[in-house]
Amino acid sequence: MAIVAPSLLSANFLHLERDCKMLDASEAEWFHLDVMDGRFVPNISFGPMIIKFIRQTSEKFFDVHLMIEEPEKYSEEFMKAGADSLTVHAEACVHLHRNIQQINQLGMRAGVAINPHTPVSVLENIINDVYVVCLMSVNPGFGGQSFIPQSLDKIKALKSLIESKNAATLIQVDGGVSEKNAAQIIAAGADVLVAGSAVFGSSNPAVTISKLKSF
Ligand code: DX5
Ligand code: ZN
Repeated sequence: MAIVAPSLLSANFLHLERDCKMLDASEAEWFHLDVMDGRFVPNISFGPMIIKFIRQTSEKFFDVHLMIEEPEKYSEEFMKAGADSLTVHAEACVHLHRNIQQINQLGMRAGVAINPHTPVSVLENIINDVYVVCLMSVNPGFGGQSFIPQSLDKIKALKSLIESKNAATLIQVDGGVSEKNAAQIIAAGADVLVAGSAVFGSSNPAVTISKLKSF
C-alpha cells in the first residue's frame, strides 16, 4: 500500500480551505505542495505565504516540491511556513549535496526530484542522505499531463540503486498518476503516489484517494 500525496496544484483556490479539509479528512497521508518560479519551470504557482495558510487546515505531512532555481535561498522560509519535507530538483542545484545538508540541518526531511531526462545514477553518491526521491513522470510545470511510460523502468532502476546502497529512501512518482496506472507504478517499486488532476478532477476526490490507497 503506497502513501498517497494529492497535489494541491489542482485544487480550487477559490475554495482552498474546503479542499484542504477534504484532504485532511481523507485517507491521504501527505499534502503535496508544488512551488514554481516561472524560471526553472514555465509556470508560476505559489510560495511560502500560501503554505503557511494551508498549514492551519491540517497536521498531516507537508511535502513541498520546489521547482525553483536557487532553492537554498528559501529553505528556512519554507521550514517556517510548515514544510515537513523539502524537495529540490537535481537539475537546479549545482551543489546538491550542500542543499541536502542545509535541509537536514534545518530539521526537515530532504527530497531530491529528477526530471524525465535525468538518469537515476546522479543520485548514487547522495542517496543515503535523501528521505524521498521524487521521480518526475512528466516534465514539471503543469498538472494534467500524461504519464511517460519509460518512468516505470526508472522506478525499477531507482529501487535497485536504493537496495544496493542499503538506503531507506522512499520512491515518489509525480505526474500523470491515476487509478489506471497506480497498480503498475506500485508494482515497479513506488512508495509514494502524487496525484493532482486524478484526485481533484474526479467527481469524488475522497473516494479516488481511497481507490489509490487500495492498490
Ligand atoms: C508537475 C507537479 C505535479 C503535478 C501533478 O509539475 O510537480 O505534482 O501537480 O499533477 P497531475 O497528477 O495532474 O499530473
Ligand atoms: Zn510535484
